[in-house]
Amino acid sequence: MADSSPTEATGFRHRREIAVILQKFTNEESSQMNTQNLIDTASKLVASDKGLLAMDESNPTCNKRFAKLGIPQTVDARRAYRELIITTPCLGESISGVILYDETIRQQKKDGTPLIKVITDAGIIPGIKVDTGAKDLAGHPGEKITEGLDGLRDRLKEYFQMGARFAKWRAVIIVGDGIPSRGCIEANAQALARYAALCQEAGLVPVVEPEVLMDGAHTLERCREVTEEVLRTVFNQLYTQRVMLEGMILKPNMVLPGLTCLKQATVDEVADATVRCLLRAVPAAVPGIAFLSGGQSAELASARLNAMNVRFKSRLPWALAFSFARAIQQPALEIWQGKEAQVLAAQQALFHRAKCNRAARRGEYNAAMESIPQLAKIAA
Ligand code: 13P
Repeated sequence: MADSSPTEATGFRHRREIAVILQKFTNEESSQMNTQNLIDTASKLVASDKGLLAMDESNPTCNKRFAKLGIPQTVDARRAYRELIITTPCLGESISGVILYDETIRQQKKDGTPLIKVITDAGIIPGIKVDTGAKDLAGHPGEKITEGLDGLRDRLKEYFQMGARFAKWRAVIIVGDGIPSRGCIEANAQALARYAALCQEAGLVPVVEPEVLMDGAHTLERCREVTEEVLRTVFNQLYTQRVMLEGMILKPNMVLPGLTCLKQATVDEVADATVRCLLRAVPAAVPGIAFLSGGQSAELASARLNAMNVRFKSRLPWALAFSFARAIQQPALEIWQGKEAQVLAAQQALFHRAKCNRAARRGEYNAAMESIPQLAKIAA
């Protein structure tokens, strides 16, 4: 082939340079768009006093809860239960997002409608649990590390295409004699940060969940100390991994004494200890903190969230919301018991818990709300 003339060569070079510049602009534009979408989704998840409903129990966990109530542990029973939850009338009044499990995001309603469509049609944002569970941490007896980073980039891409717009990863921190260790806290914090960075790259808002468990006899003060250390370490790692704080949600435990601690705390003591701890460790750029319930009773979880908002809401940089599983679902599950005839009553109980927690976000929840709808019991 003949050499190109100097003018042709220059023209080609210019076109290539322009193409590179245009590509750079396109990349910058799409990354700016991604950033804006993440910020918008994160703020929608905690807007209008709503919160998240975690319905992402893994199959073994869901089966364990079914077994206790004599519900068959089958794919179809899990599907029917998840259909019950998301078809609860007016759920979107109190719930901004639901967290699904891999099996559920691929399922359909009995009439064939994909569950994810039912969720988006209700004005609720679909999310997905992406960790693969807490395993024993080598060299650290009694401690856990959450796994699931291998292949995560591809899984996130698929979930985004399916319609998910946020994700969840739970780290488990156990309090006991001489634990948690620095090794456990750091390993889990780094995994959370790497997960969060991959989520943001894929256009999914990461819900970052480091859970300090309630099990044990430790005091409220010990829980505060551990929770603060865990959160500081998590935010250091999030910074190191370049996670954009405006485009994430933190899902922590409340600061509570261990379940078998002899000195239990009042609702206000829990509210004070929790908010004081969060103020020290959570940057103001984070739009929202959505608590897990961790095995508290449904009523106590609402009362404690309410107390935090009554006492501190006007002084806080972030929204204090909820991302409960058991504290929203448990009463409904106990009413349903796998029986078609109980679906409506179970939905009423679920709606009621969601509504109580929305009231708690406004600081308007009170015990009297609990005595109004004994609807569930009436229908049982
Ligand atoms: P609980 O509210 O039942 O603690 O569940 C929250 C959750 O999503 C755990 O990962």
